[in-house]
Amino acid sequence: MKARTPSESLTIMTEIVLPNDTNNLKNLFGGQLLSWMDRCAAISAHRHCRRIVVTATVNHVSFKHPVPQGSIVTLEAKVSRAFSSSMEVCVDVFIEDNTGQGHRIQANEAIYTFVAVDQLGGPIQVPPIRPETELEQKRYDGALRRKQLALILSGKMKPEEASELKALFFPENADKTS
Ligand SMILES: CC(C)(COP(=O)(O)OP(=O)(O)OC[C@H]1O[C@@H](n2cnc3c(N)ncnc32)[C@H](O)[C@@H]1OP(=O)(O)O)[C@@H](O)C(=O)NCCC(=O)NCCS
Repeated sequence: MKARTPSESLTIMTEIVLPNDTNNLKNLFGGQLLSWMDRCAAISAHRHCRRIVVTATVNHVSFKHPVPQGSIVTLEAKVSRAFSSSMEVCVDVFIEDNTGQGHRIQANEAIYTFVAVDQLGGPIQVPPIRPETELEQKRYDGALRRKQLALILSGKMKPEEASELKALFFPENADKTS
């Protein structure tokens, strides 16, 4: 299969935070943001493989700043690495205030894993990915470590099998085995 670049999977979604989307502090409700991020990341994964995709895991979510009611929220998702049937997708979330100043800050980030499936829900092969920018390469390089960590946490891999995580779990053996 021909490799694709992360920019081919770029997905941008823009939303405005309405009263219905907020918590008791009039900031965006975290569950609403998770839903928007999942949707944006799923479209990105689909653009990479052009198949049906399902969320396998949420590897990481970081709510750095509250997002006040009225904010304009822009989500940008790109596939950072493709494995056999799974793809890691990074989502960056930016907010603009509604004061007319046009200030834009990064409020959140998240990393999701999607799996491409056939009509019966069975995993199928996805195209490889070729990172182009420095940030894309950095995210690509860290993706196997995050995949192994997710598999360990879900009980699908033993820590001693995680080649990328040996330094974390078995520091005494890290430089002795590959
Ligand atoms: C995701 C799913 C397709 C995986 O199926 P499976 O039978 O476990 O298939 P496999 O063990 O062959 O795994 C398939 C791929 O998913 C990856 N994967 C499975 N579970 C994972 C997890 N918890 N974290 C990271 N990757 C995971 C595997 O590493 C494998 O990746 P690879 O082919 O790129 O190496 C299946 O568990 C599923 O359908 N889950 C429900 C998905 C869903 O409904 N999501 C919406 C939630 S509301």
